[in-house]
Amino acid sequence: MTAPLRAPGGFPVVGIIGGGQLARMCAGPAVELGVTLSVLAEAPDASAALAIPSAPVGAHTDVDAVVAFARECDVVTFDHEHVPSDVLAALAENGVPMHPSPAALVFAQDKLAMRERLTALGIPCPRWASVRSAEEVTAFGDEVGWPIVAKTPRGGYDGKGVRVIGSTQELSDWLERAASDDSPLLLEERVPFTRELAVLLARSPSGQAAAWPVVETVQTDGICTEVIAPAPELDEQLAARATEAGLRVAGELGVTGVLAVELFELPDGEFVVNELAMRPHNSGHWSMDGAVTGQFEQHLRAVLDLPLGSPRPRAPWTVMGNVLGGDHPELYPAYRHVMARDPELKAHLYGKAVRPGRKIGHVNVSGTDLADLRERARHAADYIEGAVTE
Ligand SMILES: Nc1ncnc2c1ncn2[C@@H]1O[C@H](COP(=O)(O)OP(=O)(O)O)[C@@H](O)[C@H]1O
Ligand SMILES: [Mg+2]
Repeated sequence: MTAPLRAPGGFPVVGIIGGGQLARMCAGPAVELGVTLSVLAEAPDASAALAIPSAPVGAHTDVDAVVAFARECDVVTFDHEHVPSDVLAALAENGVPMHPSPAALVFAQDKLAMRERLTALGIPCPRWASVRSAEEVTAFGDEVGWPIVAKTPRGGYDGKGVRVIGSTQELSDWLERAASDDSPLLLEERVPFTRELAVLLARSPSGQAAAWPVVETVQTDGICTEVIAPAPELDEQLAARATEAGLRVAGELGVTGVLAVELFELPDGEFVVNELAMRPHNSGHWSMDGAVTGQFEQHLRAVLDLPLGSPRPRAPWTVMGNVLGGDHPELYPAYRHVMARDPELKAHLYGKAVRPGRKIGHVNVSGTDLADLRERARHAADYIEGAVTE
């Protein structure tokens, strides 16, 4: 494996395991900060490999490849939460500094471990159960009321691994698989949320933390499609309590780097935690253009234990619209129209091939008229996708 070329002047190398768009979007801030990135990419044309010169190809499940990669880095962080525990253990044995640490990361990797820990900390969660049998599913559904939400504890993303079920029958395939893997499933009450929110913050190894304003996230079929920063008409008390809960989770779990806490806002003005992510997160993409310090820069500062930057918004509102793959493989021709129509808007594309429903980019637009910003973000995202042509 070729070592990354180091910059002179004592600047460190940050290694990122996984070559997705989150690793890719660290590239701009890394260039500006003068730190070097190296990414362990799943393929030579992975999103981040197209943007970062040092991008050895290797699987995040391959202990030897990951350890060889990490040896050339001063600190290792993650593009996703799918690095298996034996690989993390091998890195720890080799003395590789990791942020977040495996001890913290497990609560973003395993939704059951997360539910157990947050419940023990007294952080509000939906009613939940760990189950292995059809009888237990029926008992839980009868107790909390159908339909319920079933989740595979590990490996899910973008709604994959989440299923709303109206009867135990609808879970028979997952129950069979869980039995053969000898692994339980997570069940949750279906929360009648009024909307979804997210707390995003960064915490450094020294314990400094900085939180962005609480945002509203909109999910369509389990995939984030829009984020509004800050969350409109959010009760100040709720915002403060949610942020406090996020900071407490970060401290108690020893999270280092960016932490996203996905929340459901309830009709009575309370909230419950949905899940945690310990890396830059879709709910923070707005901050690249809408805050003094964007989440990718902040993540690098945090994992390097540098002082954190200000998370203050630069405008009253920023709206982020995700660009999802549609039917049109050609995206670039749309740029001319989108840029001409809205010179204030920022487009971020990930260098990924179009597949239906796949996250391939996002747009950000900031200003004072929220309804107008939402319309402009949606139009630009739809136009790049090819969903509208006018
Ligand atoms: N208990 C629940 N009640 C209602 N909706 C839920 C529940 N859990 C998840 N969802 C919906 O499914 C989406 C994806 O679930 P999540 O656990 O965040 O999975 P992923 O890891 O794919 O993001 C959530 O953003 C929310 O819209
Ligand atoms: Mg989620």
